[in-house]
Amino acid sequence: MTEKFDAFADFHMDGHNVIITGGAQNIGAGVAKTLAAAGANVMIADLQGDKAAATAAQIEAETGKRCLGMACDVTKAEDINAVVAATVAAFGGISTLVNNVGWGPRHADPTAITEEELVNAYRLNTVSAYRMSMACLPHLLKAKNPSIINSGSFSSAVPAYDILAYGTSKAALNQMMISIAHMLAQKVRVNSVLIGTVITEGYGDAGLDSAIQERLKHPDNLIGRTGQPQDIANAMLWLASPASSWVSGQIIQVHGGGAVVRLFGD
Ligand SMILES: NC(=O)c1ccc[n+]([C@@H]2O[C@H](COP(=O)([O-])OP(=O)(O)OC[C@H]3O[C@@H](n4cnc5c(N)ncnc54)[C@H](O)[C@@H]3O)[C@@H](O)[C@H]2O)c1
Repeated sequence: MTEKFDAFADFHMDGHNVIITGGAQNIGAGVAKTLAAAGANVMIADLQGDKAAATAAQIEAETGKRCLGMACDVTKAEDINAVVAATVAAFGGISTLVNNVGWGPRHADPTAITEEELVNAYRLNTVSAYRMSMACLPHLLKAKNPSIINSGSFSSAVPAYDILAYGTSKAALNQMMISIAHMLAQKVRVNSVLIGTVITEGYGDAGLDSAIQERLKHPDNLIGRTGQPQDIANAMLWLASPASSWVSGQIIQVHGGGAVVRLFGD
């Protein structure tokens, strides 16, 4: 009898060992769970060490795959090195890095933006992804289907003037990762997802009150709803798995379509 064709065969992540930064909650947790469910071992590296461990334990229970969580500040070289060492010790290697950490302050008034805030946004959203990528590189080079995936932002590609420090540092991340994709050509695939509005606790932390969040629930995008972590996780599963083995140096937009981001304007 002819064997049934499995259209999902290339989406399996068996044999893959993933590090995801900022995976203790929201989008990162959704990506971690999805990659684990697809067969990968996953290390969650997050500033919130306890939450990372709790999320990992829950994912392990739900997926049956190994999932660990540990404290890590991705702006600190020693923390990055510790995560890489712990992942290799636990899983035997690293095939996949998801640079998911990101955050930025709100600035309604452009004169209020300090140089420190600009530099800090760049340090968190851009430099950390570079450092993580370089620290993982020796291990990625030994792995099968190695890839780096970045949580970019739609705000890097359209006017998003009230989150200037964040948007510009995410724009730098796009360019940095395209450059790295070219420098690692034929060795490691590098892609980014430009994420649209996915309402999370981070919105409150960034100063978006419940009224603004309510407005964002009816966004002017082509689908007519805000995103869910799973919308992003589905795209990242494709980019991490062998299903996208002919895809590198790309910025994939997952944001419901459309071309306007105005978090605070009318
Ligand atoms: N939620 C959205 O609408 C949206 C839109 C566009 C892009 N993004 C991007 O997607 C990614 C995830 O977004 P989210 O909404 O799930 O974020 P979130 O704020 O809910 O979660 C971010 C996680 O990163 C961790 N973190 C923060 N600083 C860290 C550091 N220095 N070192 C290690 N971990 C740190 C936090 O503890 C948290 O668990 C971010 O890069 C964000 O910029 C999100």
